[in-house]
Amino acid sequence: MNALAHAAGGSTPASLRPFLAQLPDSFWMPAQASSAAGDVDTVFYAIYWLSVFFFAVIVGLMAWFVVRYRRRGPDDVAGRTPSHNVALEITWTAIPVIVSAVLFVVGFKGFLNLATAPRTAYEISVTGQKWQWFFTYPNGHVSNELHVPVAQPVRLTMTSEDVIHSLWIPAFRVKKDVVPGRYNRTWFQAETAGTYPLLCTEYCGTGHSDMLTSVTVHEPGQFEVWLDQESNLLADLPPAEAGAALVKRNGCLQCHSLDGSAQIGPTFRDLFGSSVAIRDGGTIIADENYIRQSILEPAASVVAGFEPVMPTYAGKLKDQDITTIIAFLKTLSGLGGAEPEAQAGPGPDDSGNDGAAAVTEVP
Ligand code: CUA
Repeated sequence: MNALAHAAGGSTPASLRPFLAQLPDSFWMPAQASSAAGDVDTVFYAIYWLSVFFFAVIVGLMAWFVVRYRRRGPDDVAGRTPSHNVALEITWTAIPVIVSAVLFVVGFKGFLNLATAPRTAYEISVTGQKWQWFFTYPNGHVSNELHVPVAQPVRLTMTSEDVIHSLWIPAFRVKKDVVPGRYNRTWFQAETAGTYPLLCTEYCGTGHSDMLTSVTVHEPGQFEVWLDQESNLLADLPPAEAGAALVKRNGCLQCHSLDGSAQIGPTFRDLFGSSVAIRDGGTIIADENYIRQSILEPAASVVAGFEPVMPTYAGKLKDQDITTIIAFLKTLSGLGGAEPEAQAGPGPDDSGNDGAAAVTEVP
């Protein structure tokens, strides 16, 4: 039930929206929650106050000169002005050089620190995909929200399935592009337990804003408990509920609705067992084999009226996962037992396919 409530909630759970409102813990930055945040903020605020200082000095002097040296009448002729002042010129060159050099050294040290993870860091793989994040833990568990232990270095090894995304955790001051065809790395050590926003900060298409999720920093000892529970969650659930969780977790709902509305892909509502028209002509009964083929080879038989844009899930979903997803899809057609989402379930559909695995091609 809980899994389905999540599945039906769409890509960005409403519970995450308030995070954006929480962002300005100070006017410019959320509260520091990682070991590197202090260094980043030091440089940021140094540049900020330098800019404020020079803005005030330059604009103030300019305004004063405009008034002080204004033309006072037709007979007011400009006098000769000095063309050089060696001492002044050396001063206004040397001071900015020193300021820039200090900022460079401090900033470069922080950059090197952010680029070099400790050898003992806990490794999490990150995959960006239109339009969802996948976080893969060392035991193979995959989640859409990032979970990490507190006070322990965590390294993210990141790549993209399609276009350039960019992972940003404002509270940690961590931001790194996620690029197809290569692995980018970053790391952090979260210092304060809690939940913080994690978002994509590279415009990656219509669903860009859906790539808002969260990072949960667990209290000491709690991360292992969470990982253990989540890893075994699907095994403990009835297949239909496990399938609902997988459909959510794998981003299927980015393109397939549960309510009957066509989006980038056909809706899942009443899909299983129905007769679907295929783009290249003919119809197919959407049975177990068609669902499985559509997940592993999405371009094989695209439903009429839709573009062949779905990525393959071969290698991401095991056969067992596909079986549980099919069990979930059956409940959306009123088949295979009670629908987990009890109040919305239509009655059993007699016209539907009763599980026979035949693919019928009609010319
Ligand atoms: Cu992914 Cu923007």
